[in-house]
Amino acid sequence: MHLERLRLVNYRNYSDVEISFNQNINIIVGKNGQGKTNILESIYFLAVGKSFRTSRDKEVVKFGCKNAYISSFFVKNGHRNTLEFLIGSNSKAVKKNGLSLLRMSELLGNFNVVVFSPEDIRILKDSPSERRRFIDREISQISPRYYANLSDYNKILTQRNNYLKNDRLDMSLIEIFDRQLCSCAGKIYTSRRDFISKLSEYALEFHSRIVGRQEEFDIRYLNQLNLSDDDTSHSAESALFELLSKKREEDMRKRSTGYGPHRDDIQVIVDSLDVKIYGSQGQQRTASIAIKLSELELIRSETGEYPVLLLDDVFSELDEKRQKLLIESISGIQTFVTTAENAHIDIFEGKEYAVFNIDGGQVL
Ligand SMILES: Nc1ncnc2c1ncn2[C@@H]1O[C@H](COP(=O)(O)OP(=O)(O)O)[C@@H](O)[C@H]1O
Ligand SMILES: [Mg+2]
Repeated sequence: MHLERLRLVNYRNYSDVEISFNQNINIIVGKNGQGKTNILESIYFLAVGKSFRTSRDKEVVKFGCKNAYISSFFVKNGHRNTLEFLIGSNSKAVKKNGLSLLRMSELLGNFNVVVFSPEDIRILKDSPSERRRFIDREISQISPRYYANLSDYNKILTQRNNYLKNDRLDMSLIEIFDRQLCSCAGKIYTSRRDFISKLSEYALEFHSRIVGRQEEFDIRYLNQLNLSDDDTSHSAESALFELLSKKREEDMRKRSTGYGPHRDDIQVIVDSLDVKIYGSQGQQRTASIAIKLSELELIRSETGEYPVLLLDDVFSELDEKRQKLLIESISGIQTFVTTAENAHIDIFEGKEYAVFNIDGGQVL
């Protein structure tokens, strides 16, 4: 899959630009604050219908303008498609091949991306919510149904939490919330378990390639049910229901829901140790690269094609050995790289690439 052309109108600091991309590597160079990441952000928007930097759509609309507009041509399975977005402060409209999509979940799975930024390098250090966001983002791209189900879960969870703030509570109403919540949660648990288990298999391979030897590398799914491989979504659903019933008093006292997939986390184990706690910075970087490369493979195995890869300012965070390995591993994948250093272009010597110089919202 690759992106052929992108047009941005009143998007961040771009008034109106149109860019044709190389099928292989696209290097976006410019001083800081010129609009490099804005381009990657808009490409990500095509895939997911939102930014990877903000949850407030209106931030991407150029200051002083009413709407931002993104249009694109991309090729998937040999067919050319168009995707267009009109983003206002309170509205968002998407068209695929000229036809309006009614829900964001219809967008997912059309155009796939994997983004790798300095925040992803730090993902193992961050809070569990960042890691859950990462998992949800990736599964949603492969499975729009997961996304729809997760949105339902979050809505019901908010309702339950709001209800728990009341002074007088009706047990039968809480039980209704719990049934609905668990019905969504069961599928979230098994999808996350399956995704993490596949990711872990790929990551083991990449990790040993990066470190140059066989070493234990395991991504573990931490959840309050201690889900096993053969639990079905129904058994997860009943297990959570039982847990919620048992913890109802505690939830009522705390006035919020303490159990469920919104409390999940992942743990990365290298050589029997938790990388988050015991890993060096180098080990954490290696782990994050292994995870990213695995995402590319996983999306290919699920969809039949590699997604496009967005590398936002990661080269300045990696040493030469890791830079080289990353580049060797992405051949055949359309990649968009941003960097403030011209010297980073040299890393791509011998590869097919195009360079775009960015200055103050202009492509020179
Ligand atoms: N909504 C917006 N309207 C106009 N300019 C914006 C908007 N949001 C961000 N910018 C500008 O975009 C620039 C930052 O772009 P960015 O792509 O993050 O830079 P970099 O090249 O460092 O990656 C800043 O100059 C900022 O003022
Ligand atoms: Mg940037």
